Amino acid sequence: MADKKIGRNDPCWCGSGKKYKQCHEITDKKIFRYALEGHTVPSRNLIKTPEQIAKIKESAKINVACLDAIAEAIHEGMSTAEINDIVNDVTYSMGGIPAPLNYEGFPYSVCTSVNDQVCHGFPSKDVILKSGDIINVDCSTILDGYFSDSSRMFCIGDVDPAVQKLVDVTKECVELGLKATKPWSFLGDMAEPVHKHAEENGYSVVREIGGHGVGCEFHEEPWVSYLTNAGEDMLLVPGMMFTIEPMVNMGSNAIYTDPENDWEVYTADGLPSAQWELQVLVTEEGTEVISW
Ligand code: MF3
Ligand code: CO
Repeated sequence: MADKKIGRNDPCWCGSGKKYKQCHEITDKKIFRYALEGHTVPSRNLIKTPEQIAKIKESAKINVACLDAIAEAIHEGMSTAEINDIVNDVTYSMGGIPAPLNYEGFPYSVCTSVNDQVCHGFPSKDVILKSGDIINVDCSTILDGYFSDSSRMFCIGDVDPAVQKLVDVTKECVELGLKATKPWSFLGDMAEPVHKHAEENGYSVVREIGGHGVGCEFHEEPWVSYLTNAGEDMLLVPGMMFTIEPMVNMGSNAIYTDPENDWEVYTADGLPSAQWELQVLVTEEGTEVISW
């Protein structure tokens, strides 16, 4: 909002070195008008500065390198523990830290979620990928205190066409959400095509677990739903960064968490679930994909 404490000729709060009136003043006033109309608006700390964006992009190089290395190496007969090893090797060799490791007690460096596992699957030497499996590899990285987070699906051997379709449609959902992400629109504008496309194909979208702001922390505000509608939810402002990562279930949206470890999430009906995740920056002109 228009900050009384900053004079128009003072340096902008964002650290650009420019005068406030030549930098964020107009944006701040615009945000304030949306707030007056009753919209949820981002707090200033959710708007990344150019310096922060540059650091987050460095982190994302490692994140993408991990997923590229996994895409090269993944094969039938491989254990998901080997995927964890790849994430460690690539991340540490590039000077980063795997963000999941010890995050709220998470015991591994990456999440590997197979078939009816919705998310937060534990890599294990006992989980051997077999023909017909689908797997989400969710990779998140810290470099110099800045965070990147993205995930991809991989299909192993001969996958049932109906399951392949779930994987493909889920990716389309993310692409449609990205296309609908625009400065001065709302998170609901992004979410509506995501859930519509999933539902038109007979699938359901997980309600309880969503996306998040990302960059300066692993999980920042806003919490991101893929079930809201156009015009709803938080205003999108240039400099905001968040994930588009819907979990799409072939059957019902009901899920449960393994009570043994309080992490691994499964579909209640045992049918497969798919997820793709990208990290997007809202810019003045549109969007920039930071990692995928
Ligand atoms: N990468 C996941 C996400 O997309 C985070 C999982 S939390 C973890 O938000 F501890 F399991 F890594
Ligand atoms: Co995420």
